[in-house]
Amino acid sequence: MTIKVKAIIGSTSSTSYNLKLVNYMAKRYKEELEIIPVLINDLDMFSIDIESDPSPAVRAFKDDVKDSDAVLFATPEYNFSIPGAMKNALDWLSRGGDFTLHGKTGFIVGSSMGALGSVRAQIHLREILSNPALSPILLPGNEVYIGAIHTKLNEEGDVTDEATIAFLDTVVQNFIEFYKKQTAISQL
Ligand SMILES: Cc1cc2nc3c(=O)[nH]c(=O)nc-3n(C[C@H](O)[C@H](O)[C@H](O)COP(=O)(O)O)c2cc1C
Repeated sequence: MTIKVKAIIGSTSSTSYNLKLVNYMAKRYKEELEIIPVLINDLDMFSIDIESDPSPAVRAFKDDVKDSDAVLFATPEYNFSIPGAMKNALDWLSRGGDFTLHGKTGFIVGSSMGALGSVRAQIHLREILSNPALSPILLPGNEVYIGAIHTKLNEEGDVTDEATIAFLDTVVQNFIEFYKKQTAISQL
């Protein structure tokens, strides 16, 4: 059984390293996980004024995330936090009364060109996701901070750094175990 994972890409860049990382993970773990990137580029800026009648892009985004077994958050770091576009996407997911992320198992990865690999962004992301209106069931620990990402991918976008690959393998296996346990608990 493959686990259908929708991967919310926190970058709107057409050359995003975080998107490349997710595409690499989709290839490497395809036997166990069906990882599908979800782009947030077309979302309107959240406003209470349009909340009750969101655009087709917002509806499609929420439906896309909903149609999953689990969610992966892949975030860069902008000015020591998550990009505004990612925050906007989460604001949409938190509203409308459908609580899209409730009951969804999830995990986080992040990369940046700097040495610290999005650590500050991910600390903020975990804090934001702990809001009761979001609250996915996040894999604890397993913090994936990939620094200097531009030196760790080849032309095809594959990760070439052995230590990074080994760590991703471990985290993905931990996530799969966690997902199975959570699913068993929810069926009790
Ligand atoms: C507005 C802006 C702010 C940034 N701030 C940070 C930062 O605080 N820490 C960091 O490590 N990298 C920072 N960066 C560099 C990003 O890590 C780098 O652009 C990375 O490639 C973004 O991810 P992406 O390729 O998936 O879009 C910043 C980049 C931009 C455009």
